[in-house]
Amino acid sequence: LERGPAAPDLAGRHVVISAGGTREPLDPVRYLGNRSSGKQGYALARTAVARGARVTLVAANTSLADPAGADVVTAGTAEQLREAVLKAAQDADAVVMAAAVADFRPARYAAGKIKKKDGEEPPALELVRNPDVLAELSARRPREGQVVVGFAAETDDVLANGRAKLARKGCDLLVVNEVGEHKAFGSEENEAVVLGADGSETAVPYGPKEALADQVWDLVAARLADRG
Ligand code: CTP
Ligand code: CA
Repeated sequence: LERGPAAPDLAGRHVVISAGGTREPLDPVRYLGNRSSGKQGYALARTAVARGARVTLVAANTSLADPAGADVVTAGTAEQLREAVLKAAQDADAVVMAAAVADFRPARYAAGKIKKKDGEEPPALELVRNPDVLAELSARRPREGQVVVGFAAETDDVLANGRAKLARKGCDLLVVNEVGEHKAFGSEENEAVVLGADGSETAVPYGPKEALADQVWDLVAARLADRG
C-alpha cells in the first residue's frame, strides 16, 4: 500500500484507542468472548502515530504485533478495559472505542473448573450487565473538549440504528459498519458511515482499515481544531 507522508495534524495530542474484544471468564478454563480481531483498532493506532499523536492502545485479547510508537496496555475483561480506558482518558484529547466490549458477564465465576455429571441438567448460565464504557466516558468527559468516538456493527436499518445509538451513547462520532458475510470481523477491509452528533454523515467506501482510520482522524482533528 502506497501512501504519502501523513500530515502531523495530531502532533501534541494524546489519543486513546481500545481494540479487540473482551473475554468474560466462567471458570479457570472458559470464557464468553466475541470475534473481534482488533485490526481496526490497531489501524487507528498506527495511523494516529503516523499523524504525530501520542497513542495509548488498550488491547483486549488481540494477537497482533504492537504498533510501533504506541503505548500498549492490555485488558482482559470489560471491567479491566473500563479501568484502563478511564485512566488513560484522564489527559486524552480523543478516545476511540473500537473494542467489542461484552454486554454481559457471567454472574458468578467458578474458582474450579465446571464439571458435567451424568443424569444432571446442564447448569443455567446467569449473566449480569457490564458497564458501558463509551456511555460513561461520553457523559463524564474527563478532559474538557475531549472528542469521544464509538464503533457499531449493525444489520437491518443500519443508519437508523446508528443514529439512535449515537444519541443513546452521547458520543461525538459513531462509526457504523454494516455486518455481513465478508465484512468487518477479521477481514482486512471495511466499509462504514461515520455519523456525527452535529448531524454530519461521512460515507467511507469499502477499502483498507487504514483508510477508514485516517477518515476517523480527519473528523477528530477537525473537531479538536474547532475547540482550540
Ligand atoms: N461499548 C462500551 N461498553 C459496553 C458496550 C459497548 O464501551 N459495555 C462501546 C463499544 O466499544 C462501541 C460502542 O459502545 O464503541 C457500541 O457498541 P455496541 O455493542 O454496538 O453498543 P450497545 O449499546 O452494546 O448496543 P447493542 O445492544 O446493539 O450491542
Ligand atoms: Ca453490545
